Amino acid sequence: MRHFIHTDTLDITTIHALLTRAKQHEAQMVQADQPYRNRFTANLFFEPSTRTRCSFEVAQKRLGMEVIHLDTDTSSAVKGESLYDTIQTLSALGVEIVVMRHTHLSVYEALMKQNVNCALINAGAGKQAHPTQALLDLYTIQNHFGELDGLVVAMIGDITHSRVVRSNLDLMQRLGIQVILSGPENMRDPELERRAPYVSFSEAIQKADVVMMLRVQLERHQGEIFSDASKYCEHYGLTQARMENMKANAIILHPAPMNRGVEIEDACVEHERSRIFAQMRNGVYVRMAVLDYVLGGIKTC
Ligand code: CP
Repeated sequence: MRHFIHTDTLDITTIHALLTRAKQHEAQMVQADQPYRNRFTANLFFEPSTRTRCSFEVAQKRLGMEVIHLDTDTSSAVKGESLYDTIQTLSALGVEIVVMRHTHLSVYEALMKQNVNCALINAGAGKQAHPTQALLDLYTIQNHFGELDGLVVAMIGDITHSRVVRSNLDLMQRLGIQVILSGPENMRDPELERRAPYVSFSEAIQKADVVMMLRVQLERHQGEIFSDASKYCEHYGLTQARMENMKANAIILHPAPMNRGVEIEDACVEHERSRIFAQMRNGVYVRMAVLDYVLGGIKTC
């Protein structure tokens, strides 16, 4: 049994194997052979989610799995049951995989040390890691450009609170992508800027093959670092006017959910350069590949 918690534990061969398997799933989507029929998986989300939760469920069902949604507000966690005991209980019931979103990455690490009997998949951990999102972003970029090596990806916006940036930085740089960062002064992150250069918004737009806009994450802000949506959009939002300065073949990504009219204008979301809804669709194929991976269905060296 394997866990899927960090991007940095995946070697390059495994990353390519996951992308290739996702492509196979995309090609076979109409007649998926449901290799994991009658095997049980459980989804535990301690933070809100639409895309990750629903695309995992579609992926699990496409593979023939039975899916349990444990409502974290009404589970025995409310009565003080530890997460370790919750997961061991699910295992005793026959669950093999637990897909979990949690506020703290350290929780997954602790559960692995405790040798839980289920494979754990990280569906987003606080501001620290979102490995399946990074993998679906890569998949979407590869689908458009064919190659990844040598591309420039600009991640723009609320850098400091973004788990998407953290997981993408790791994967993209190891695959030869140049990552640049941009956004408001008070949303910069000095630690991340040691790994990727910070540039002005206009430079980021002009240089990038992929313009990835990030959500302003109000729920993670401490103190008022954001006050005015229209001012934010005026200075740091992707608008049709700014899109004019993008490279001819450049595309727009956003992990979503989006604050339309804040970090991105409506017209850019629905624009032909946008791959935002393709990202969501691709999440299903990539998560099918990740489910294969934790069940040992992808060979690695
Ligand atoms: N991109 C993403 O993780 O979206 P959700 O929070 O809706 O799952």
